[in-house]
Formats: sequence, structure tokens, C-alpha cells
Amino acid sequence: MKKEYSLTPSTSVQSVHREIAVFDYQKGNENIDHSVVESFGEEWKKFHRFSDKEIDTDAKKYFDIVTDEMLNRNSYAVDLGCGTGRWTKYLSEKAGFIEAIDPSEAIFAADKLIGPIPNVRLTKASIENTPFPDETFDFGMSIGVLHHIPNTEKALHDCVKKIKIGGYFYTYLYYNFENRGSAFKTLFQLVNGVRKITSRLPMRSKKFVCDVIAFTVYLPVVTVGRAMNAFGLKTLARKMPLSHYQTNSFFWMRTDALDRFGTTLEQRFSQEDIRKMMTDAGLIDIKISDQMPYWHAVGKRIR
Ligand SMILES: C[S@@+](CC[C@H](N)C(=O)[O-])C[C@H]1O[C@@H](n2cnc3c(N)ncnc32)[C@H](O)[C@@H]1O
Repeated sequence: MKKEYSLTPSTSVQSVHREIAVFDYQKGNENIDHSVVESFGEEWKKFHRFSDKEIDTDAKKYFDIVTDEMLNRNSYAVDLGCGTGRWTKYLSEKAGFIEAIDPSEAIFAADKLIGPIPNVRLTKASIENTPFPDETFDFGMSIGVLHHIPNTEKALHDCVKKIKIGGYFYTYLYYNFENRGSAFKTLFQLVNGVRKITSRLPMRSKKFVCDVIAFTVYLPVVTVGRAMNAFGLKTLARKMPLSHYQTNSFFWMRTDALDRFGTTLEQRFSQEDIRKMMTDAGLIDIKISDQMPYWHAVGKRIR
């Protein structure tokens, strides 16, 4: 099932559990924000100790729209922008073989988190320079990645090109709050203003400030939401900001605070934007989940 690389690696590095081939960026074909990638490399070096239990809990939310027909033991799969490899690890129990790629130092954290699982290969490469021929994979995914790339639409095309006709592509992209009220949208403007400042701090200060945000904002808001749930106010709890984290540990909140407030480039999309980009890339039967995290979507490649 595992294919040979279609490009020649510039080098390869022996990590803890496996050798990792490194593919350099192709000059002139770049669709990457280097400062974002560097920041993620630093982030994931710090945050990669996710427990299997917590990965499983969150995976149920992310993969609610992925069926056995889309991904099963016969599937050759690819995780594009795998970060710490948390979703690669989860899906390695469902797929035949998974290729996981990421251009940042996170790929070495992924090696540690995934461990010596035999049906996973890790590669240090970016989406626009994915070292596999077009139409290779039965299933591809890019989770929380494409909104951090300058040209999201082109990156989505580049991902879909690697999927076989009849295969499936899954993505999670930040939503633009279209399904939220005006108070929520105003709160976002405020948060976005803070992000523009925090994301430009040097790494050490950024980590510190994001930890403070996790402790003083995420934790109290999430605790109020959990209390609402405990008192049976489930609808209200779901409407709370950060409600997605009501089932997550504080460690997970710290990771996401750094992700959210530490990244200089983020773009946001409506369901309609996502549907259009996916359709233009050659996907049909597009399903966008109405559940959090907003928006995650899957489609089938027909051309
Ligand atoms: C928010 S993290 C998501 C990681 C992982 N998918 C997850 O959900 O845990 C975004 C990842 O995208 C990667 N990334 C950024 N630009 C990329 C590009 N052009 N090609 C591939 N990956 C990229 C970063 O290195 C980072 O690990």
C-alpha cells in the first residue's frame, strides 16, 4: 500500500521511532507562511503529550461525518499538516496506512506521540510540495491547517489533487461566526485584536501570555459552561463561548490558546465559502457538520 516518494528528499533525519525524510520548499511554488510554521514547530514541541482518552473524546466530534465507506482498513490515507499527529494516531486504527506530513519541527513531536506504530510514515514537507503523485490516496484530511496558509483555496486544490477519483477529502476550517449572535461577533473582534498583538511577541513571552489567557479566560468561561451543564442548562451551555472545551482538559485549552493567540495568519470562512472551494476543487456530496468544531466538512472526488 505504501508508495515510493515521487520527489527526492533533501535529507533524512533519524528521530526516536523512525527515520523522517525532509523535503525542502520549492522556490517559486510557495504557499506557506514561514513565521506561522516556525511558531507551530515551537508550539508542538511544548504541547504533544495528549492522552489517548482525550484524543478519542475530541475525535468523535471531528469525525462524526466520516463513515466506514470513506475510511477503513483498505484505505491509504494522508494527513496534510499533521502537527503532533494526534489525528494520525487516532486514524491509524481505522485506516490501512497513513502518510502524515508537516513542514515544521512538529513532525518530530509527532514521532514521539505516535510511537512505533507500523502503519504510519512521517514526512517533513508542505502541502504544495507533497512528495506523492496525484491521485494516490483513498482518504485525505487537513485539520486546522488551510486557514493558516496564504492562499487557502489553492492549498485545498493541492490537497484534493492527491486523492484518487472516488476517494474522500476531509477538512476543518475556522468558521466566520455566521451562526452566532452579534454579542459573540463583537467578542470575536476584541479577541482578534488581542491575537494581532500576542502573535507578534517573541516565543517565550507568547507562550507565557497564552498560558495566562488559558488560565484567566478559557478556564473560568469553560467552568461556567460545565456548571450550566451540571444544572441541566444544556442549550445555554452550548451557546457559551469556548463551549467546545467543556469536555477538554486544561492542557488541551493551553494548547489551543497558544494556537489561537500565537498565530499571525488566520482566515475565516462561511459554510458557503467552504462548499464553493470544495466544489471548485472537484468534490461532490459535500457534507458540512452542523456540530462543533465549526466547520468540518467532507466530500468525494469526482474529477
Ligand atoms: C493548528 S496546527 C494543526 C495540526 C493538526 N492537524 C491538528 O489538528 O492537531 C496547523 C499545522 O499546519 C502546518 N502547516 C502550516 N502551513 C502548512 C503548509 N503549507 N503545508 C502543510 N502544513 C502546514 C503547521 O506546521 C501546523 O503543524
